[in-house]
Amino acid sequence: MKKTIFITGASSGIGKATAKLFSSKGWSVIATMRTPEKDSGLRQLNNVEVVALDVSNAGQIENVVKAVTEKHKIDVVFNNAGYGLSGPIETLSDERIINQLNTNLLGVIRVTRAFVPHFKKQNSGLFINTTSMAGIVGFPFDSIYNASKWAVEGFTESLYYELHPYNIQVKTIAPGVVYTDFGLKNLDKSQLPEYEKLSKKFIEYMMGDMSKVSTPELIAESVFNTVTDGKDQIRYVAGVDANEMYAERLEKGKEGFRQNLSRILFE
Ligand SMILES: NC(=O)c1ccc[n+]([C@@H]2O[C@H](COP(=O)([O-])OP(=O)(O)OC[C@H]3O[C@@H](n4cnc5c(N)ncnc54)[C@H](OP(=O)(O)O)[C@@H]3O)[C@@H](O)[C@H]2O)c1
Repeated sequence: MKKTIFITGASSGIGKATAKLFSSKGWSVIATMRTPEKDSGLRQLNNVEVVALDVSNAGQIENVVKAVTEKHKIDVVFNNAGYGLSGPIETLSDERIINQLNTNLLGVIRVTRAFVPHFKKQNSGLFINTTSMAGIVGFPFDSIYNASKWAVEGFTESLYYELHPYNIQVKTIAPGVVYTDFGLKNLDKSQLPEYEKLSKKFIEYMMGDMSKVSTPELIAESVFNTVTDGKDQIRYVAGVDANEMYAERLEKGKEGFRQNLSRILFE
């Protein structure tokens, strides 16, 4: 029987590439986005339904999940919508911090909570949450983004125990740097002059070898493998840069990794 994936943040980047890939593999896709008028081509694809959803809107989440679960059997929920707030902590207003957590963390929590009864009833289902290397490693000027993505990692691992008895799987996918609108939308506009040198060093560190950066299509392939590999595994790291960084983190340990990155950034 044809399977169905529900995707958040499908208007661009990883979400859009994943919607296209799953559609090409014969899945039904519910591609959600906060501004469906922005859809550039998903609607025309086979078995893709575009639905309005802003993951920072709790009421809309309830209504959309109710409507789609009445109509479809959902097999996979891909919690992907998100953006990156960056800047030194003292420059970030309450409003910007709350917005970031509301989207990247509460969005994932609320969408997941809304789908759990549906998955329990059918005794199957998979949640896959997009985190980031910033969900595993702390980066300068990303404190709130880091906090949101680390929280999603912990949220997901905790749910494993709760949902395992109902045959519901939970996974995270942590990409490194991906060529999407993410960088453009999240350009750091709140840098302070005293951090200029550190900021420059950090950009050099992250973007040092552009050959290791991923395309959204490559991350979509990883999402597809993660969904279909049948493995008892929660965390998946996606992209050459991310896999190298993760291997180094495991090899050096958390403190060793941080000490080494500190040497690079402050030398
Ligand atoms: N690009 C990277 O380097 C990178 C690395 C690691 C992890 N990630 C993560 O990957 C995920 C996808 O990002 P991307 O790289 O594909 O960037 P992107 O092209 O900017 O896509 C982000 C998507 O999230 C949506 N979104 C943002 N706020 C939303 C909200 N309140 N409700 C619903 N949708 C919302 C955006 O919708 P609009 O079009 O309406 O803004 C867009 O569809 C994010 O969770 C991001 O943190 C990205």
